[in-house]
Amino acid sequence: AEKWVYMVTAQTSPNIAVINYWGKRDEVRILPVNDSISVTLDPDHLCTVTTVAVSPAFDSDRMWLNGKEISLSGIRYQNCLREIQGRAGEVKDKERGIKIEKKDWEKLHLHIASYNNFPTAAGLASSAAGFACLVFSLAKLMNVDEDASHLSAIARQGSGSACRSLFGGFVKWRMGSKEDGSDSVAVQLADEKHWNDLVIIIAVVSSRQKETSSTSGMRKSVETSSLLQHRAKEVVPKRILQMEEAIKNRDFASFTQLSCADSNQYHAVCLDTSPPIFYMNDNSHMIISLVEKWNLSEGAPQVAYTFDAGPNAVLIARNRKVAVQLLQGLLYYFPPKSDTDMKSYVVGDMSILK
Ligand code: PMV
Repeated sequence: AEKWVYMVTAQTSPNIAVINYWGKRDEVRILPVNDSISVTLDPDHLCTVTTVAVSPAFDSDRMWLNGKEISLSGIRYQNCLREIQGRAGEVKDKERGIKIEKKDWEKLHLHIASYNNFPTAAGLASSAAGFACLVFSLAKLMNVDEDASHLSAIARQGSGSACRSLFGGFVKWRMGSKEDGSDSVAVQLADEKHWNDLVIIIAVVSSRQKETSSTSGMRKSVETSSLLQHRAKEVVPKRILQMEEAIKNRDFASFTQLSCADSNQYHAVCLDTSPPIFYMNDNSHMIISLVEKWNLSEGAPQVAYTFDAGPNAVLIARNRKVAVQLLQGLLYYFPPKSDTDMKSYVVGDMSILK
């Protein structure tokens, strides 16, 4: 057999929603009931690195996550692989004498190794960065001629929020209106340099695995919550426009008002679901109270918060000075080694504190 291995490595980062996605109108294609907006974290601090390799010596598709083999048989992996494979081009590496023709991809097998530089169990959304990285690296490997937005529609089929990790900076996922999902794509609103005063701190309140997966949670909310219907139709469309303005103008007061209100409404939808879903815990609630009080006492917002499908707080400080004060506050109320199990990660232009 031929002895070559051809490989590509790529890196992506998790993204944090500031206008949340919650609810699918199509569960197979993963099409949402509303637009969402997120900020992609700084890859120097939190990222996923994925290497994809192809060789005539491989006799099956295999994948390792943080060194442990995982199954590729799930429908979400299969959909992403199939979509990329369907667009695969020709690869020529003259120096190494490698030539892969379009028709060869059907016979060749892949080995995929993916690493998170942050604890997977920490409850930080890792599937978004994971699927974005998988799709991006496979597209490079197979010489797929599509732009990042087109690739985002493929990553979306792995995990909805993954489509937003194809871009850095501020990103919008347009829900789209087509049945086939081809217009349900991510677009970049502003790059990572646009508003780089912001510092994101993730307060890891609990590293336990969440009890309700986003998939089953969303399904139940769509089926039972009337607040979700109201939110998707009446509330989010306006908020999206306002958030785009706030980001464009670097208007931190509006940004904070919108992000906090949206996080709270999303968790209200969870509570409005039958049976109710509780993602936040007492520590999450305490952090919200502290931030709200602080913002009020300063006369202008200093810190925005948002919580995804778990109890960990994502705190966005208006600048570095505020971020330092915020960390001091967190360490005071949740001293390390206490039974609150709080670890803090600082993301932005500072290093991770643990
Ligand atoms: O893409 P999923 O299935 O992991 O869903 C993510 C949903 C939230 O994180 C709660 C909100 C969002 O927009 O990221």
